[in-house]
Amino acid sequence: MLVVKALHLWMVISWFAGLFYLPRIFVNLAMAPADSAAERERLLLMAGKLYKFMTPLGILSVVSGLWLWLGYGFAGGWLHAKLVLVAALLVYHGHCGRLLADFRAGRNRRSHVWFRFYNELPVVVLLVVLFLVVLKPF
Ligand code: HEM
Repeated sequence: MLVVKALHLWMVISWFAGLFYLPRIFVNLAMAPADSAAERERLLLMAGKLYKFMTPLGILSVVSGLWLWLGYGFAGGWLHAKLVLVAALLVYHGHCGRLLADFRAGRNRRSHVWFRFYNELPVVVLLVVLFLVVLKPF
């Protein structure tokens, strides 16, 4: 079980590297002047590669979590609350893919300030998940 949990944490930490950094690239894309095509292309390339990297990590975070949950009989209100937050993270991940498509098509209308707040959402969710899974308050 501990090997599965270590793999789970490895997947989760790597996934969060993407969840934290991709919206930061969106902040820079939203700030890039319209006439700086080279900078926009470079940022779009980085964002595309990062999204491709973080997607399998998100899937493996869920698979390893399900393995822990269903394979080792974990239960409790904390796990249900955690699953709701994990579902929210998966929606956030998918929405990042939508935002990337908007940037690629030149459709983005959101400001860099909006993306700065958007960037903080996974930080808050991670904090709550950590308290739930380590303290198991209910
Ligand atoms: C469907 C998705 C997931 C399921 C079913 C799941 C389930 C579990 C289970 C059953 C454990 C073992 C708890 C224990 O040993 O006390 C665990 C550990 C952990 N999970 Fe997940 N998890 C999922 C996704 C995530 C995500 C997305 C995060 C981060 C936001 C996360 C963070 C953690 C942490 C930090 C631990 C270690 C807790 C400890 O050692 O006390 N998990 N997970």
